[in-house]
Amino acid sequence: MKNSVTVHAPAKINLALRVGSPRPDGFHPLNTVFCSLDLYDVIDVEQADELSLELVGCDLEVDEHNLALRAARALQTRTGTNHGARITITKTIPVAGGMAGGSANAAGVLVGLNELWDLGLTTSELAELGSELGSDVPFCLMGGLAIGTSRGENLVPIRPGFFQSWVLIVNDEGMSTPAVFKKYDELRPEPHEPASIEEIVAALQGSSIDGLAGLLVNDLAEPAFHLRPDIRRTFERAHGSGIATVLSGSGPTIAILCTSDQEADVLAEGLRNDGMRVLRAVGPAVGTHIVRSN
Ligand code: C5P
Repeated sequence: MKNSVTVHAPAKINLALRVGSPRPDGFHPLNTVFCSLDLYDVIDVEQADELSLELVGCDLEVDEHNLALRAARALQTRTGTNHGARITITKTIPVAGGMAGGSANAAGVLVGLNELWDLGLTTSELAELGSELGSDVPFCLMGGLAIGTSRGENLVPIRPGFFQSWVLIVNDEGMSTPAVFKKYDELRPEPHEPASIEEIVAALQGSSIDGLAGLLVNDLAEPAFHLRPDIRRTFERAHGSGIATVLSGSGPTIAILCTSDQEADVLAEGLRNDGMRVLRAVGPAVGTHIVRSN
């Protein structure tokens, strides 16, 4: 057993997010391309008698619904261990921003406690446990670039042809993913399958980032904009900068793909001067991983 372990858990964006009509279990079938970013939360876990969680860098209240705590309990139940842990999560990923912050934290706790408690679960066992906690948790564990199907937990890695430079416009008021999916169903009530993502997958394996122009797509953008007209206005202002602009996941984060780091730096500076809250990121990045264990 270790005394303490530190894990980095990266955010994700969806380069394509095609949605079908809801399945009998209420989840929507997806064809999506996930990409992890070098923007991550830091998860520290150390030995303790009881489980506890502290969040640093955000004003979110911790309660029993917190996905990171639920991940810790799920791991205890799955392995029958009676160890506790003091978990500290230092947030950088925007909360409720459509970048899988909660899922990243769950993935980080699974990886951290598996190491701290010497449980020896394999990555695929962690992914199986993670998929019960949230659809994005398996991708947060895996990282990189991947096609996601079913409700997003079914993954096939893609070998990226190039790195992507991103400018992210974040918004302090988060969005509820279930509410955005519900609005999607209202706007598109007829039964349908998620559209194909073949073209963007081919472009991602190509040699030039310019091949992505016009291919980034998110079926949740229109419903998110219906719920948040302010995000539509920000999106329309940002549109036309960089190679492409896309809403991340269920929003409200808006992601702008740039041709180079230099172009992204200049754009970020301009948007900041316009009063927007902006982050920079590069993708694809590695998935959830241990950076210290002792
Ligand atoms: O899986 P996760 O807990 O992240 O999903 C949160 C909510 O988002 C679900 O309860 C559901 O309302 C919606 N969702 C969906 N279809 C998906 C993924 C999420 O309807 N494929």
